[in-house]
Amino acid sequence: MAPANQDTALSPSDLVIFGGTGDLAARKILPALYYRLRDGQLPASSRVFILGRRPMERDAYLKRARKACERFVTEGDFSEKDWKRFASCLDYRAIDATKPAQYDALKKTLSRDPRPVRVFYLATSAELFGPISAALKEKRMITEGTRVVLEKPIGHDLASFRATNRAVLDSFREGQIYRIDHYLGKETVQNLMVLRFGNHLFEKIWNGDVIDHVQITVAEEIGVGERFAYYDSYGALRDMVQNHLLQLLCLVAMEAPPYITPDAVRDEKLKVLHSLRPMSAADVATHTVRGQYRGYRDDIGGGRSDTETFVALKTHIDNWRWSGTPFYLRTGKRLAERYSEIVIQFKPIPHNIFPHMKTFPETNKLIIRLQPDETVKLEVNTKVPGPGGYRLKPVQLSMSLAEEFGERIPDAYERLLMDVVRGNPTLFMRSDEVEAAWEWTEYLLTGWKKSGMKSRPYAAGGWGPKEAAQLLARDGLRWYEQR
Ligand code: BG6
Repeated sequence: MAPANQDTALSPSDLVIFGGTGDLAARKILPALYYRLRDGQLPASSRVFILGRRPMERDAYLKRARKACERFVTEGDFSEKDWKRFASCLDYRAIDATKPAQYDALKKTLSRDPRPVRVFYLATSAELFGPISAALKEKRMITEGTRVVLEKPIGHDLASFRATNRAVLDSFREGQIYRIDHYLGKETVQNLMVLRFGNHLFEKIWNGDVIDHVQITVAEEIGVGERFAYYDSYGALRDMVQNHLLQLLCLVAMEAPPYITPDAVRDEKLKVLHSLRPMSAADVATHTVRGQYRGYRDDIGGGRSDTETFVALKTHIDNWRWSGTPFYLRTGKRLAERYSEIVIQFKPIPHNIFPHMKTFPETNKLIIRLQPDETVKLEVNTKVPGPGGYRLKPVQLSMSLAEEFGERIPDAYERLLMDVVRGNPTLFMRSDEVEAAWEWTEYLLTGWKKSGMKSRPYAAGGWGPKEAAQLLARDGLRWYEQR
């Protein structure tokens, strides 16, 4: 079955944002809605209700929202005219989300001229997902056209994920639940599927016979910032690896789905997660690295926290395609540079016909840069022109998305929010996927606990603890940027 047209303007909707005064709403949700309204995709008759605990007049809230949009909408894209149209959709309501009695006023407003689509976006901590879902059910606010959006990480471990998931499923059908992993909404991440399955070129070489290993890096320059309370009880494994990095790994490793339909794509990703090699505590000790940047403890207001702000690991996918091809993953805060990149490193040529060269020809690499400068590069060897015999030099065939298309690349949240409104869950995580990702993550959580592995300190502005480089060095490799 072919998917529906993705571009058309959508039905008017009622969007209700729980946790609407938080960081995520300011940085991502409001700017995303601003853009979609500006570009005519979100009809101006839509209503956006921002919910927070603190009583606030609408005008006072609008001042805050305007500040957020001025700051987080790209310079030059913010205009008085568009802001006025957007502001006319916005309203603010104070509510204690744990008290069903306080939902009555909102219910009344929503049932006055209800829009065909109703979205409850839970930008709150996962502990509130169950109670909010129960309150919405109790108050009969879940209509046929209702969808609920859950922010990651859902749960703190496998058991708490299962409990939260069950609680939400008590009120909503699986088909109404949109579990966000915003990496899936990034244009370049979607482009991974097009690169792999829209071109014939790669498929025959996309396996362990030809690919030596894969590196996935999500590096950030920022530290924990304002979110330290949340971050300190989660850490990089739960915050980034369990979701964003494993999703990227799935897209690199999965088989072609029959069509790009929601369940077909998610079935394939699930198979990858199920094929991830389990790790014993001894494997965890040798295959993973935990790090914490120097200054982290000051950033969280003191104490002796051991929470990791950096993870590097080596894993295998036990199936025919990837037999013998390790996947190296790493992510961290306060690193030298902000970028996300996937490096597909091919095997060396089987035989060198240029024996006079001092070094063996460089291996080919496909470098997919997801952000900030979205590019796809293929590194191939070429002859250095002129006399002097065959001198080989790796050069990059490079395609920059921005240069090629010359357009603003929309933020992931724009795409994902509109997918929720149009009812397309392809880029959202199904319950069994999140569960499988937690099942595998538990090997690391348990291994770290059993072996008492501590976070290694690393200098802010570097590339993490030296053990991360050693992880690859043991296999005769280096992280790509260290060349
Ligand atoms: C979020 C994490 O999911 O992703 C943050 O909770 C992290 O800790 C962020 O900073 C990174 O997202 P992006 O889109 O800036 O790479």
